[in-house]
Amino acid sequence: MTLKDGTTYTIIPCPADRWDDATELAFRVFLKYEAKEYGEKGTDSFARFLSSTTLEKLFRTGRYIVYTAMKGNDILGLASLRSGNHLSLLFVDEAYHRQGIASELIKKVQDYLLKETQYQTLTVHSSPYGIPFYERMGFKATDEQITAEDGIIYTPMQMYI
Ligand SMILES: CC(C)(COP(=O)(O)OP(=O)(O)OC[C@H]1O[C@@H](n2cnc3c(N)ncnc32)[C@H](O)[C@@H]1OP(=O)(O)O)[C@@H](O)C(=O)NCCC(=O)NCCS
Repeated sequence: MTLKDGTTYTIIPCPADRWDDATELAFRVFLKYEAKEYGEKGTDSFARFLSSTTLEKLFRTGRYIVYTAMKGNDILGLASLRSGNHLSLLFVDEAYHRQGIASELIKKVQDYLLKETQYQTLTVHSSPYGIPFYERMGFKATDEQITAEDGIIYTPMQMYI
């Protein structure tokens, strides 16, 4: 896959030794694009989710599927799946937005679901910022925007794969 400057990147399962880097990228991008709307409570909840030893254990035992977009050793973005067919994290490094990386990450997740599972849909709880992207990918809202107890604001969406 090619970036605007002609250099290339690949999408691979997150290497075991890059978990900390991948979650660090997710939190960095979250702080820039989502934290303001979520407030302190939502930000703390997200930080707790990302740094939980349970999540890391699920990843290390192959039960939390994570794909990373890699340019050499650099992680440009990541996508992850929980509960089978639910897109959990989708974050792209700010410097690489609008170059098709998230679209390719979604394709990778769809390929995985088609080949390895029986699911026919991919679901997501979109952040307010993510909605135009997901709509462009073909996701449709299945409910109104929700503000959860933990401060996270999201719109449930799904697409057929
Ligand atoms: C949302 C996000 C993952 C998109 O990543 P990306 O790699 O820039 O997305 P793509 O380049 O694949 O975008 C594909 C299309 O989606 C739409 N799109 C993407 N970002 C958009 C934005 N900020 N506003 C409006 N439309 C957008 C566009 O139609 C785009 O095509 P175009 O660039 O040719 O116009 C990225 O902006 C991000 O990390 N945001 C912060 C975290 C976040 O909100 N994640 C979702 C959490 S649920």
